[in-house]
Amino acid sequence: MRLQHWLTRAVLGFGMTMLIGVGGMQAQSSATIHFDAASKVFRIDAAGTTYAFGINDAGQLQSLYWGEQIGKDDHLSAAHRMAGVASFDSAETTTPNEYAGWGGGLFVEPALKASFADGNRDVVLTYVSHSIRGNELTVRMKDVSLALTVDLHYTVNPGTGIVGRSAVITNDTNTPITIEQAAAATWNLPHGTDYSLRYLTGRWAGEWNLQKQNILPGMTVLESRRGSTGHQNNPWFAIERGEQADEESGDVWFGALAWSGSWRITVEQDQLQQIRITGGYNSFDFSYKLLPGKQLQTPIFYGGYSHHGIGEASRMLHRFELSSILPQAPMPKPRPVVYNSWEATEFAVTEAGQESLAEKAASIGVERFVMDDGWFGQRKDDHAGLGDWYVNQQKFPNGLKPLIDKVHSLGMDFGLWVEPEMVNPDSDLYRKHPDWVLNFTGRPRSEARNQLVLNLARKDVREYVFSFLDDLLSHNQIAFLKWDYNRNWSEPGWPAVAPDEQKAVYIEYVNNLYGILRELRAKHPQVEIESCSGGGGRVDLGILGLTDEVWPSDNTDPFDRLRIQDGFTYAYTPGVMMAWVTDSPNWVNERTTSVAYRFLSSMQGSLGVGANLDKWQPADFATAKEMIAAYKQVRETVQHGSLYRLISPRDGSEASVTESVALDRSQAVLFTFLHSSQMGYPFPRVFLRGLDPQQRYRISAIHGAMAKDTPVEASGSYWMAHGVDVAMRGDMQAAAFRFDSSSNTNPSR
Ligand code: GLA
Repeated sequence: MRLQHWLTRAVLGFGMTMLIGVGGMQAQSSATIHFDAASKVFRIDAAGTTYAFGINDAGQLQSLYWGEQIGKDDHLSAAHRMAGVASFDSAETTTPNEYAGWGGGLFVEPALKASFADGNRDVVLTYVSHSIRGNELTVRMKDVSLALTVDLHYTVNPGTGIVGRSAVITNDTNTPITIEQAAAATWNLPHGTDYSLRYLTGRWAGEWNLQKQNILPGMTVLESRRGSTGHQNNPWFAIERGEQADEESGDVWFGALAWSGSWRITVEQDQLQQIRITGGYNSFDFSYKLLPGKQLQTPIFYGGYSHHGIGEASRMLHRFELSSILPQAPMPKPRPVVYNSWEATEFAVTEAGQESLAEKAASIGVERFVMDDGWFGQRKDDHAGLGDWYVNQQKFPNGLKPLIDKVHSLGMDFGLWVEPEMVNPDSDLYRKHPDWVLNFTGRPRSEARNQLVLNLARKDVREYVFSFLDDLLSHNQIAFLKWDYNRNWSEPGWPAVAPDEQKAVYIEYVNNLYGILRELRAKHPQVEIESCSGGGGRVDLGILGLTDEVWPSDNTDPFDRLRIQDGFTYAYTPGVMMAWVTDSPNWVNERTTSVAYRFLSSMQGSLGVGANLDKWQPADFATAKEMIAAYKQVRETVQHGSLYRLISPRDGSEASVTESVALDRSQAVLFTFLHSSQMGYPFPRVFLRGLDPQQRYRISAIHGAMAKDTPVEASGSYWMAHGVDVAMRGDMQAAAFRFDSSSNTNPSR
């Protein structure tokens, strides 16, 4: 209401009211974008957040405010370019710019750096015009003397206040311009020395480690130079202010870049203790020749603010991903329970073997059967076959149809593994087209996992990849593709184009990948896709716009997974986080765990089974059947609800607990894990969050037991304030409980 009142007073701009629907719940929210012509201030308000910037006296766009929503009548003063500090720190450097070209005396990270044909390398951008359409703002800037224009796009998500920023760079001169650096945005925070930065790091089979460090003078660079998103850093950050910030309280600014190629996010504390975060294409080994009349579009860098700690920041991102990013947004279907053959058979897939696994998978309630690597070309191991996407005749003499029919007859749909962007040198494709891979003429071609990367930037390669996938999907009843990508780039040359155009491969490759995914989805709308890159090497908001789920890690040790999944959820929703139950002892750490422990670990995300079912005992099948049935009753809450990380598994914690609450608060699900009890201490009491304090909730065990004196039913406030004791002792123990409100009428729950 407050916003609507304010709306009537807006000089320019108008409000948008939208229905945000996730998991059956609809919440109404609105956003306004407003330009005050007198003070030349742009103000974006949505979901309790205000983002503001102004046109300063030098015509540059200067950040003014980003944080908790300020009063509708609060007046934001006009932007004034800051004074330089001594002759060493020019005004360009001290002023918090929204989007600065490298020019004048700019010493901090530029958003844009360009070279002109005559040798000029100075870019100074000033305001030209703007337009506001619904929840989108475009501000046009232009270089002070040359016809280089930049359109800055801002979109605001009404449900979360998350702002999406990107830039379109246009060459209106008569000669080519070389773009040497192009960010989507710079975000600015007020000067201060009590900020800390969180980010995610990893490696193959060890992804999603949450790091935290104080922001000190200088620059921290998060990046991938690998051609794809990478396991090592993920394009996500969160910044907290003050010593007191924790999971549920304090100011947090966060951002995520929607780009699946080489990327870079810099976090700077400058010499005046101002904080700037700039992100976009990685400038390393980068240049893009922008011809006259042409445009270069940057990826979108999303940013948001939470006043309630990093827990709320994650929930905002989860809601945003589910309601606005995923292909099925705003109402993504719950992920089906999958079976995947990889850990059971590796490359040794056969028709009979897969059918035997499928029968057993169907018997425990699996809904989707996925055949992994090994079904195509001359694929016996990882030395051959990639690139030759015909069905292997020895393994499947009658093609895929008999297996697919069998899977359908068992009541499941069928999914298939592909790795479309790769080729083994031992393949018909490579023998025919050795020039199709990334390479520098006459130089060695470094293999990784015995494979090379096809140069998807090439038109012929793009056509080949699209057409074999299109064929596969047109001739087989395939409901799902697991799209893998098992190495990073090396020697990223593109000899077929002129030397000064070759570095465009960093952009054209990814755009073609996105283009193929987009076209395939349009032509085969029933097909769902998983993004996998040797585990979690390609997870970002760009690929999530075109895929329905991701494989977070090849590490399926259920105890390691607690930490992997915890880290993952800082940036991404459990609704896309696939988690399989595999065999014990697990290959990663040779750790032995019960079937129940493995299930409960995987049930925190989107459940799958990847064990060798041919070796399971009747008791294993019985537990699996019960667990899968229980999961189906709560999966909507787990996948689409609000996640509370109650006790973190990080830093050697003995215990870990997560809670998911349905958006309508009619159900909560609690997962509790104990590594090893010590000295007879009881499991820490668990205090729930996010319930409706007035409603009554009935507790029931999915697995394990609570303390004997636990009431069967109590108010939300009781479960949150008094808490619940879980009866759990021993090593590698797990328990899970559901809380159903008396008003929960959803039959699936
Ligand atoms: C990658 C994936 C695995 C599996 C193999 C198959 O490592 O992450 O899940 O699909 O490839 O070769």
